[in-house]
Amino acid sequence: MLSVWHFLPSRYNSGSLNNPKGVTDFRAMKVNKICVLGGTGFVGGHIVQRLAASGKEVTVITRHPQRNRNLLVTPGVRLVRADIHDQATLQAQFAEHDAVINLVGVLNEFPRRGVTFRKVHVELAKTVVEACRKAKVKRLLHMSALNADEAHGTSEYLRSKGLAENQTFIAGSAEIAITSFRPSVIFGPDDSFFNRFAQLLRLSPAVFPLACPNSKLSPVYIGDVASAFEAALENPASFGKHYDLCGPRTFTLKELVEYTARCLGLKRLVAGLGQGLSKFQARVFEFAPGKPFTRDNYLSLQMDSVCKDDGLAALGVSPTDIEAVVPAYLSGKNQRQRYNRFRGLAGRG
Ligand SMILES: NC(=O)c1ccc[n+]([C@@H]2O[C@H](COP(=O)([O-])OP(=O)(O)OC[C@H]3O[C@@H](n4cnc5c(N)ncnc54)[C@H](OP(=O)(O)O)[C@@H]3O)[C@@H](O)[C@H]2O)c1
Repeated sequence: MLSVWHFLPSRYNSGSLNNPKGVTDFRAMKVNKICVLGGTGFVGGHIVQRLAASGKEVTVITRHPQRNRNLLVTPGVRLVRADIHDQATLQAQFAEHDAVINLVGVLNEFPRRGVTFRKVHVELAKTVVEACRKAKVKRLLHMSALNADEAHGTSEYLRSKGLAENQTFIAGSAEIAITSFRPSVIFGPDDSFFNRFAQLLRLSPAVFPLACPNSKLSPVYIGDVASAFEAALENPASFGKHYDLCGPRTFTLKELVEYTARCLGLKRLVAGLGQGLSKFQARVFEFAPGKPFTRDNYLSLQMDSVCKDDGLAALGVSPTDIEAVVPAYLSGKNQRQRYNRFRGLAGRG
């Protein structure tokens, strides 16, 4: 089957844009007002602050404006409570904006709460494109994930991310300049990767059993991801393209967990589990509160999260090594964590 990637990049890459009747010429584009979905999350918080700091007006749509008032500290940011799954609501919110960024994604499903990959990734992607078209928004940045593949993804998460990405391009490309981003695991002060392992390691006895120890990852710094979004936003060379985003080095999961323990000064023996025990751990942890590890997560880890193409370099971004930032935030030598501790002490956590 011919995938969307076979025709989209060549059409937009051809130097002078092939501009058949009815297809917008995207070459000249100035973006001042941006509407962000998922702007309150780990990735979103950084991207929103970066864009606002560069003088953009940013509207963040959220289910919980009260919980995310910290974003309002940055001038130029506005929080709006709205149901992003309702197309008419989105269309009304997108009106008057030059660009939309869709960062919404979940790592696990919670069907009883209506949170499924189909709804949050696939259906939302369709709704966003439709709302952009109707509101005449001409620029869309879409967050996918490395190894996202509608047909060959190893997990439901990856297949749904792949389908959402393909649908976004297929449905929107004639009228909207679309760029998607496919990061490996993202690290930074508020991440749920190093911080999650740090939490588990602190609670663990001397031996720490680790599922999928040999899976390879190339962690990419959140500051570099934000730079990639910023670099692409008004750049016609990025229209119709997808960018794999990876850090400068590749590690096994076991190496990264051992590194986390070293940063914390903890003596732990990280014991890699074989496939059978890894699957068993996923089956058990799937029932723990918050689902710390699921069978679908296990399946995602069956494929190395390593880039074939260097998307950061293509966008002129130099990758940051884990050594440059992780030790500071894991050891708490970080402004925000210090601030959060003070808030906690003051009973305002
Ligand atoms: N973090 C990583 O290592 C990583 C790696 C690769 C790809 N990604 C992708 O990057 C994106 C952002 O990830 P993240 O780590 O920043 O996630 P996150 O911290 O969990 O934030 C997710 C955001 O999505 C919104 N959201 C979540 N579920 C929703 C639902 N059911 N309905 C409406 N809104 C919902 C939340 O907004 P409100 O709660 O404010 O409404 C929140 O702002 C995702 O698409 C993810 O797949 C992340």
